Amino acid sequence: MANIPDAALGFILQNLKESVQYNTELIGGVKDNVKELCEDLETLRAFIREYTDKYSDNEILEKLASEIRGVVYRAEDAIETYISCASVQKLRRAISKATHFVDYISDLRAVGKEIEKVSKDVQEIYQNRAALGFAAMQIEEISNRRQKKKKTPVVEEDNVVGFDDAAKEVIELLTGESDDQSDQLEVISIIGMLGLGKTTLAKKVLNDPKIEYEFYTRAFVNVSQEYERKEMFLKILGQFTQITDQMNKMSDEQLCKELHDQLKTRKYLIVMDDVWTNEAWDQLKGAFPNNNKRSRVLITSRHKPVAVHANQSIDPYFLRFLYPEESRELLRRKVFGNNCCPSELEAYELRILQKCDGLPLAIVVVAGILVNHRDRTDWWKKVAEDVNDYVARKQEQSYDVIKLSYNHMPYYLKPCFLYLGVFREDFEIPVWKLVRLWIAEGFIPRDGCMSLEDIAEDYLEELVDRNLVMVGHRRLTGQIKTCRIHDTLRDFCKKEATKENLFQEIKRKLTRLTLLNTLLDWKHMSTLGKLEKLEVLKLKDNAFQGELWRTEGGGFRNLKVLHIGSTNLVMWKALASHFPILRSLFLRHCTKLEAVPSGLGDIATLQEIDLYCTNSMVAKSARNIQVLKLKVQANDKNKRGAAFKLSVYPPDQ
Ligand SMILES: Nc1ncnc2c1ncn2[C@@H]1O[C@H](COP(=O)(O)OP(=O)(O)OP(=O)(O)O)[C@@H](O)[C@H]1O
Ligand SMILES: [Mg+2]
Repeated sequence: MANIPDAALGFILQNLKESVQYNTELIGGVKDNVKELCEDLETLRAFIREYTDKYSDNEILEKLASEIRGVVYRAEDAIETYISCASVQKLRRAISKATHFVDYISDLRAVGKEIEKVSKDVQEIYQNRAALGFAAMQIEEISNRRQKKKKTPVVEEDNVVGFDDAAKEVIELLTGESDDQSDQLEVISIIGMLGLGKTTLAKKVLNDPKIEYEFYTRAFVNVSQEYERKEMFLKILGQFTQITDQMNKMSDEQLCKELHDQLKTRKYLIVMDDVWTNEAWDQLKGAFPNNNKRSRVLITSRHKPVAVHANQSIDPYFLRFLYPEESRELLRRKVFGNNCCPSELEAYELRILQKCDGLPLAIVVVAGILVNHRDRTDWWKKVAEDVNDYVARKQEQSYDVIKLSYNHMPYYLKPCFLYLGVFREDFEIPVWKLVRLWIAEGFIPRDGCMSLEDIAEDYLEELVDRNLVMVGHRRLTGQIKTCRIHDTLRDFCKKEATKENLFQEIKRKLTRLTLLNTLLDWKHMSTLGKLEKLEVLKLKDNAFQGELWRTEGGGFRNLKVLHIGSTNLVMWKALASHFPILRSLFLRHCTKLEAVPSGLGDIATLQEIDLYCTNSMVAKSARNIQVLKLKVQANDKNKRGAAFKLSVYPPDQ
């Protein structure tokens, strides 16, 4: 239990509370217990929230947090067992309750008592918190979130600080005519450690008027570790020509030739950002013709050998660290939106900057920690103490600064941030997709009358404010359209999520899930299929939309109950192997659906199909399944399977 992550715990508590609230009508007999239990859970949740926000090393808190973890899990088991038992009872309309059901009630009560006890401990600690020495920081309440966000200055990556000299030198390397080979294609490289600003500099150079004038054909492509050749070529082509259907169908070899041919007559500059290996360069270089037009390829890389391999005759450009005054300007711009800082904070500012040691990535991440409490001296003092010395120049220690930012992150942002680890490196993430995935994972709790999408977008803005996510493009309305995550941050997310076991934890525990108005695409059902323990899945009003659902992959191995309500689904394609132990299928207001997949008739465990306001074609397909089921039952001499039941409302015969 001790390793249960706080982020996952907060999430489980939230889910549990919602599940209790959602099912109050089922809980009837034990309503009072459950109400109290809910209040107690809320106290525990507030505690976890504060605990994860401050990440205190306090021993008493540590011990209490581990007790809470234990109790939350027992509560979760008891409540879920109770609710699923109660719902089965209700469905079967049983009049008398079976004895084992009564046992579940007593389990629930026992857990209630335990929760009550831990909750008292928590309250005591709260009351004495000043004496225990951890009252300094206030919790960041959700209700303050929107207000705070407005105060945060918007500073995005096009606000480059310094680098004028660096840009000038690189431009000189790209356009200079000093050596006699300059008519030839040349490869120029910018080298530097992670987060030093290579990508930022390369973009600044690419947008420089002199470069725009010299090179009519320009393209920027991020290579990274997990590139695909075909995608790289298409991305480059797409920046100066129209991508045709024919191009989309080409193999990577054909595309390499196509790009080569298109570039042959042009004076071009292509930026290949973040090339990791010699092999990567070797695989891509064939697309760049040497056309005696002084074309250039600009590579950025963390590794000098890559630069030497690509061009032995020109030394790579080694990017420098920021000068102290540039570091200060960058921090101030990110925190205050201008180059000013209140004089009482200057001493802390200096200490922080010394520790960041001129590394832009460290500076922007620390700025993200400061920005939310930028006027509080005690906050600056704490951050100054917490940033490790010489964080910057040792690669492995740059993790420390990200960890620090993560530790200071409010509980609700943590799972959302860690989730970004699932995207490919430097992938331009469409926000609509991210938002829906967050919602599907259950990371976005309800908050008053705001829609889940709006809350999710607010979360994203917060991550941007903290410099943990970079904005790709914004819409005209100012909303973020696409975003990216720096690959060091992404590595952190992946490692931390594995360490915290976040996704496994959620997967392991979630047995019931209800989605409502999430408007997800049926494609994303495969994400839900990954919830290994999922037994009951209710897709209520417009949880999913789209005309075709082709159930894919491993399907839903443990799903017993599937409820699909109000959707525009027309065609559902699935096999028995996708739902090997399904017992009950409920379809409500699926008016456009054409049929229940006939394959479902082969599910040995299927006992019931319940149709409510579906069309006659669906009823017909369900009757075919019923006939099949009855045949199988008639042939089964041992009469092992339970009788199959089909109900259709309104009756159509
Ligand atoms: N001169 C600068 N002015 C403002 N922000 C900067 C500057 N240099 C870097 N940054 C910011 O620092 C972060 C890291 O920069 P960048 O991504 O350019 O580093 P990098 O050297 O390309 O890192 P990697 O090796 O991981 O690709 C980004 O958030 C970027 O916006
Ligand atoms: Mg980069």
